[in-house]
Amino acid sequence: LMFACVSNDGIDEHMVWLIGLKIIFGRQLPNMPKEYIVRLLMDRNHKSVMVIRRNHVVGGITYRPYVSQKFGEIAFCAITGDEQVKGYGTRLMNHLKQHARDVDGLTHFLTYADNNAVGYFVKQVRLFFPFMMCRELHASSLFSRSMQLSTAKMSRRLLLRFSSDSFINLFADLGFTKEIHLEKERWQGYIKDYDGGILMECKIDLKLPYTDLST
Ligand code: ACO
Repeated sequence: LMFACVSNDGIDEHMVWLIGLKIIFGRQLPNMPKEYIVRLLMDRNHKSVMVIRRNHVVGGITYRPYVSQKFGEIAFCAITGDEQVKGYGTRLMNHLKQHARDVDGLTHFLTYADNNAVGYFVKQVRLFFPFMMCRELHASSLFSRSMQLSTAKMSRRLLLRFSSDSFINLFADLGFTKEIHLEKERWQGYIKDYDGGILMECKIDLKLPYTDLST
């Protein structure tokens, strides 16, 4: 299994993957016109983070980084039909956050989430313990792995209650919320209004090791 971030750069393998992702988006996002999907996927301002298994695309997220504004807009997100609800979507989101932070320098994501996908975005919550931040421990520590997996399931409401404590706040990724904290000047006029969804925001933490351990 591998995760890759590609754009329309003319490399044969990338084009094959982009076409694979186009087919998945076409099937999984039936309300999106096919031409619109192709246009954004092939637009050089957009990037796609994909899950690839045995050289086949399992799913992906296409986004546009607005580097000057330090936020990204997620345009499309989908996992192929028979591989949904197996954790790929969460792992993909973690890889997207890591890439967007480390390569694009982004601090936030915005997306118009389909009503029926709001649950997935809200569940992108993780609590990290300080010792998980230490890479040396990761390799051997089964304990920290299971701790993380169980806390990943912790309810968001509980986590939000904890997060009023600044210590926990440092180590929690609170996922996507319907409340938009990003200042309007940073995003207004950059993203298009879209009737069919709910605007959601995710803050990307500056330090969290998004793709370590369970991902
Ligand atoms: N509604 C509510 N909860 C969901 C949904 C959903 N549609 N999909 C997944 N979840 C939950 C899972 O049950 C899981 O919860 P748990 O941790 O309590 O077990 C959690 O979210 C993570 O699930 P994953 O297995 O990581 O998610 P998956 O691999 O299925 O990917 C995705 C989620 C991308 C929404 C996928 O199901 C999909 O492609 N759906 C159809 C297309 C779609 O709706 N895409 C999003 C449209 S919005 C946009 O594109 C901007």
